[in-house]
Parts: sequence; C-alpha cells; structure tokens
Amino acid sequence: MTPIILDCDPGHDDAIAIMLAAGDPAVDLLAITTVAGNQTLEKTTLNALRVCTLAGIHDVPVAAGCARPLTRPLQVAEDVHGESGLDGPRFGEPKVQVVDEHAVDLVHRIVAEHPEPVTLVPTGPLTNIALLLTRYPEDAARIREIVLMGGSTGRGNVSPYAEFNVFVDPEAAAIVFGSGVPVTMCGLNVTHQALVTPDVVARLEALGGELGPVCAELMTFFASTYRKLWGFAAPPLHDPVAVARVIDPSLVECVDAHVAIEVSGEHTRGATVVDLHGHPGRAPNAKVAVVLDAPRFWDRLIAALGGLAPA
Ligand code: BDR
Ligand code: CA
Repeated sequence: MTPIILDCDPGHDDAIAIMLAAGDPAVDLLAITTVAGNQTLEKTTLNALRVCTLAGIHDVPVAAGCARPLTRPLQVAEDVHGESGLDGPRFGEPKVQVVDEHAVDLVHRIVAEHPEPVTLVPTGPLTNIALLLTRYPEDAARIREIVLMGGSTGRGNVSPYAEFNVFVDPEAAAIVFGSGVPVTMCGLNVTHQALVTPDVVARLEALGGELGPVCAELMTFFASTYRKLWGFAAPPLHDPVAVARVIDPSLVECVDAHVAIEVSGEHTRGATVVDLHGHPGRAPNAKVAVVLDAPRFWDRLIAALGGLAPA
C-alpha cells in the first residue's frame, strides 16, 4: 500500500479522486487537505466533507489549507463547477468534521512521523504544497513523490496555453517543479483521455445506494458545463488520473522531460513549457504523463467506488 495525501479543491473530478483514493486497496489515504481553487476554501472544504460523508470516509482527517494563491488574488472555476463548487446533486449536512490544524502543518506532521516516505497527490492549485516546501524545506527529502494533476504538454483550458491549476498559482507551481522532489505531471494532454461517456455515467449509477446516483448526477452536471463551455461530447475526468498513476503506474505512461512554468508571460501566464525533445542544457525535472490506459482506468475506478461502504 502506498501512503498518500490528497490535496484537492473539490470540484467534481476532485470528488471522484477522493473516492478513488479512499476505495482502492493499493493506496493508504492518510489525509485529505483542501485548497482554494475551483471555489473558495470554505466551499472546497465543505465539499470534501460532503464527499467523505457520502462515501462513508470517516477515518481520514480533512484539513483546510490556503485560502488564496501565494501572491495573486484567487480566481475560481464557477463556470465549470458551479456556485457551490459541486453543483448538481443536493447534499445534506456533512457528518464528518474538519480537523483543527492547518493543512500544511498536518502534512508536515504526517510526512515527519510516517514510517515510510509519503506520496503527495495535489489535484488543485499547488499553494499548499509550495508553502509546505518553503516552510519545512527538510520535508523535501522525506516525500517520496509528488504526482499532480495540472499543466499540459499542449494547449490549455483556462487560456490558450494554461491549465487551470497552474494558472491560478503559477508561483506555487514553479516552487514545486523546482523543489528537487520527484514530480509527475498529469496534464490535460493525458486527462483528456479519461472521458466520462454515457456508458461511464451508467456504470456509476449502477453502483447503487446513495453513492451511485449522486456520482452520476455530479458527472451529468460536469458534462453540461464542458458541453456549454468547450463543446465536449463527454467531459474529461482530470483529477482521478493522478491518483490512478500512484495506484498502478502501468495505467498512465510517462516520459522524462523538463517542465518550466511561465509565471510572467503577457499571454501565457501559467503555461507549462514541456521540453519533449530533450534540448541540451535542460535536464528532465519531471515525469510527464502521455498515455492513459482508459479501459483499465475506468474498471479500476468503478471497482474502487464500488468497494466503498457508506454508513
Ligand atoms: C483542473 O481544474 C479543475 O477545474 C479540475 O478540478 C482539475 O483539477 C483541470 O484543469
Ligand atoms: Ca481539482
């Protein structure tokens, strides 16, 4: 079992990432931490608690982290995830509570105390992770790997060249990619291979209980915004791809490459400049995901969600 901490901003795809991480036997989910991104910190934290309640995840601490990017004002993705950050289904009062510790301090404590090196899986802006590496530089040597959803080898989504998570806090992304900790980037080029087709929605619905229909409703809302904004026939389920890479690396093929973060470009803020051709003088600083085994990914995800036992 690989020990992981999921740092997220739920968000429809983050919600499924939480359930995948909690339900798959290959990973040991030590904590869920939240960050401002898809919505404000207050909302992403509430959403994490809602997802834990829905999925019967009662034994994993949830801690709130940074409410805004390191140096910039927050930009949320209300157009994609709605006013709540998790629009679609109706949620009752969460039965899980947030812990009274800042996410960055909780991650530091776990990283310091856990007998094995811990893998961090960020699926939102990288603010919490950058703050951790800045405040506790000694943690870099104790983190096994950072496997993140963010960036792209090609075009962006929030702007022509930038993916949302990196765009929101490019300074944080630059700290993470420059930290020396092994980084794996699961960007849009690979997450756009995880398309939530009607068949996937039907398989989620068929999980039954309260969880199946709520997941299906979440995906139906997510599909509607992707159709409206970008004309997608089926929306890409970004964040679970990063979790899947940790669960079984053979699900997500990667290449070694140098990734530079554009922090100051006039038209390219937040672009991930991925050198796939090994230009001299730029040694690889990351593994970059390129191919998803989509059929096996969906089978694994559905099995993990099916194994959750909501109380
Ligand atoms: C990323 O941005 C968010 O809207 C999603 O949750 C995902 O993490 C995709 O660009
Ligand atoms: Ca996310």
